Amino acid sequence: MCQIIADDICIKSTPRIGPRFPLPQEVILTSNYANQEFDSLIIQGDALDNLRKFKDNCFRCCVTSPPYWGLRDYGESQQIGAEPAMQDYIDSLVMVFREVKRTLTEDGTLWLNIGDSYTSGNRAWRDRDRKNPARAMSYRPPTPQGLKPKDLIGIPWRLAFALQSDGWYLRSDIIWHKPNCQPESVKDRPTRCHEYLFLLSKSEKYTYQYDELVERSKSKSGFRNRRTVWSINTEPFHYAHFASFPKELVRPCILAGSNENDIVLDPFFGSGTVGVVCLELNRRFVGIELKPEYVEIARKRIVEGN
Ligand SMILES: C[S@@+](CC[C@H](N)C(=O)[O-])C[C@H]1O[C@@H](n2cnc3c(N)ncnc32)[C@H](O)[C@@H]1O
Repeated sequence: MCQIIADDICIKSTPRIGPRFPLPQEVILTSNYANQEFDSLIIQGDALDNLRKFKDNCFRCCVTSPPYWGLRDYGESQQIGAEPAMQDYIDSLVMVFREVKRTLTEDGTLWLNIGDSYTSGNRAWRDRDRKNPARAMSYRPPTPQGLKPKDLIGIPWRLAFALQSDGWYLRSDIIWHKPNCQPESVKDRPTRCHEYLFLLSKSEKYTYQYDELVERSKSKSGFRNRRTVWSINTEPFHYAHFASFPKELVRPCILAGSNENDIVLDPFFGSGTVGVVCLELNRRFVGIELKPEYVEIARKRIVEGN
């Protein structure tokens, strides 16, 4: 069994926890793998700090949804997404994904889900949303230089280009179309019903299981290459008031980007959706999440398998 983490953390099948492999406090070993070949980890803490503890080339694939800019206050001092300046937010994510690239195998891929938002029009804060308390912000980021009130910011593409400049191969943008999107009260533009999913790779050649992604068609073979618009409903989430991405969005990414028993990374683990899908697909996972309450939600979901 591979030992993938430097210094103080080890992933080993047996012994799980013992004097030879002491696990630091922040590492939580998910507990339902007793009789299986693979182990997985949920780590509570900052994504960048913890990624630095991993050796090069240990994850086949990373599937993640980072915090969006200026959307939610997670109430943690090291949180990403609450930077007053947009460029600082982009820079923070580029740093995290640079570590993701280092820890990916040479044929590794990054599947990155991210949504866009509008400038605040210099409103200083957003009031508590009764339906979604986590959306209350104690501030709204100021309108970035060069943009105007009401401008669409274009965060997904700004991030995608920054990652491309940092050495990633930007291979595809995929539109996650949400047929059941929230209505909006706007009357001067269409209601947004999509987010982006970017496929990036560490190298020119990479693991992409074409057959896992084909879709039905009227062609002779009955199948065709998967298209770049994926219509997937958001899933109601009963554990907490925040956005977890749907398992149906995560499943094709993991199927295309990894093999059974590979280790899949999510450095912004949230409620652990990637872990739940990895279990279903016989993959191992490492999830890093800053907020202790979310770590507990993720652990519970994974143990219960939902
Ligand atoms: C969009 S959510 C991820 C949701 C997740 N995909 C799910 O299905 O539940 C982003 C997560 O990143 C976490 N986060 C914010 N800053 C972080 C940091 N510096 N290190 C690790 N996690 C962080 C937040 O607490 C939040 O849970």
